[in-house]
Amino acid sequence: MKVLIVGSGGREHAIAWAVAKSPKVDKIYCAPGNAGISELAECVPIGAMEFDKLTAFAKENEIGLTIIGMDDPLVGGVVDAFEKEGLRVFGPKKNAAIIEGSKAFSKDLMKKYNIPTAAYETFTNPNKAITYLETAKMPIVLKADGLALGKGVLICQNREEAIDGVKTLMLDKQFGTAGDTIVIEEFMTGREVSVLAFCDGKTIKCMTSAQDHKRAKDGDQGLNTGGMGTFSPSPFYTKEVEEFCEKYVYQPTIDAMAAEGRPFTGILFTGLMLTEDGPKVLEYNARFGDPEAQVVLPRMKNDMIEVMEACVDGRLSELTLEFEDNAAVCVVLASDGYPLAYEKGKVITGFENFKGKEGYYVFHAGTKKTEEGIVTNGGRVLGVTAKGADLKEARANAYKATEWIAFSNKYMRNDIGKAIDEA
Ligand code: AMP
Ligand code: GLY
Repeated sequence: MKVLIVGSGGREHAIAWAVAKSPKVDKIYCAPGNAGISELAECVPIGAMEFDKLTAFAKENEIGLTIIGMDDPLVGGVVDAFEKEGLRVFGPKKNAAIIEGSKAFSKDLMKKYNIPTAAYETFTNPNKAITYLETAKMPIVLKADGLALGKGVLICQNREEAIDGVKTLMLDKQFGTAGDTIVIEEFMTGREVSVLAFCDGKTIKCMTSAQDHKRAKDGDQGLNTGGMGTFSPSPFYTKEVEEFCEKYVYQPTIDAMAAEGRPFTGILFTGLMLTEDGPKVLEYNARFGDPEAQVVLPRMKNDMIEVMEACVDGRLSELTLEFEDNAAVCVVLASDGYPLAYEKGKVITGFENFKGKEGYYVFHAGTKKTEEGIVTNGGRVLGVTAKGADLKEARANAYKATEWIAFSNKYMRNDIGKAIDEA
C-alpha cells in the first residue's frame, strides 16, 4: 500500500517512522515533510492546507491511506475533502475536529455530558468578560476559542493581568479570529498527563500515557511553547486514575460526540490534570501530540497501519493495543530564542551518531536540506528520543544523545522528566 502523511513536524517524522515499519506499506509520501522525513518518505511540495492539490495527488498516485498529522487541516475539513473524492483517510471530519478547533464547543460538550473539567464561562463581548473578572476568583485562566499553536492560553495571577489578557485576546487580536470568543476558566493545580487514543467513531483505545513540558525554560518558567520534551509512561497515571478516566472521560467523550451526530474517528488526545478532586480534562486535541508522538510511538508494538485501517473501517473493537514494558524520553533541541524570534539556517552536525543505535531516535521538526547540509529551519529543530528499561535510564540516554548533535544556537531544557524523581 502507498501511504501519504500530511504535515512537516517531529510528530509527522515519528508517524512516518511507525508507518515505515509496517509490512503492508510499499511507499510513503509526505506533504510537505522535512529533511528527516525525506529519508523515509518522498516529500512532495504541497502545503497541508492545499486540499485540492492533496486529493489530486492522492488520486494520481493511488494512495491507499492518507494520515493527517496536523490540527489546522483537520479543523479546516481536509478529511471531508478526501472522503468526498472516495479516498481513504485517517483523521476526524470537520464536525468532529471541532473538539480541538473550538474550546467553547469542547467545554459545552463536557458540561452537557458531565465529563469532569474546570468550571468556565464563555464570552464574545470583551466588556462582559471584564465585568465578570471584577469579582472572579484569582488566579484564573483565559483561553482563545480557536487554534493558536498551543499559545492561546493565558494563566493570570491577578485581576490586572486578567483584564490585560482580555485585551490581548479580544481587542488586540493577538491570535486573530481565534480570540473572538474566549473561555474564562477556573485555575486548577496538579500533574498534567497526555493520553492519546485511537478512535473509530464508537470505540476508543488508549495508548500509553505521556507528559509534556510546555514552558520554554527549566523549572517550568518562560513562555508557553508547542512542547519542549516528553516522557512516557507517566508514573502519576496510575491504574486507579486510568480506570476513572475510562469510566468518566474517554468512552463518555466518544459517546457524546456520536450522540451529537459528530462521530470521532482518528486520534483523540486528552490533556488531563490530576487535581485533588480527581482527574479533569484540560483540553482535547484531534491528533497526535507533538512531542508526545515521539515517545509513545517508539514504544508501540502494533502495526500502526493495521490499527488505523481498523479505525477507518469501524472495527477497532477487534484489536488490542500493545506497548513495550519500558520507558522513553524526548528532549527537544530548539533554536535559542524560541518561541519568540530566533535565527535559522544553522548547519546541524552529528546525525551519523544515531545510525545503528537501537532505541535512539532523532526526529526532525524544523530542518531543511541545503547544499551546505541539513540546517535549522524552525523554533523546534529536533526531538531526540531514547528508550530505557525505566524512566531514569531513558532520561539519561536521551540527554546523552542530545550531546551527539551540534548546531550554533542549540537550546534545550535540562530538566525534562525531572518529575520522575518525585514519583
Ligand atoms: P491547553 O492548551 O488548554 O492545554 O492549555 C495549555 C496549558 O495551560 C496546559 O497544558 C496547562 O499547563 C495550562 N492550563 C490550561 N488550562 C488550565 C487550568 N484550567 N488551570 C491551570 N492550568 C491550565
Ligand atoms: N504537545 C502538546 C500538543 O501537541 O498539543
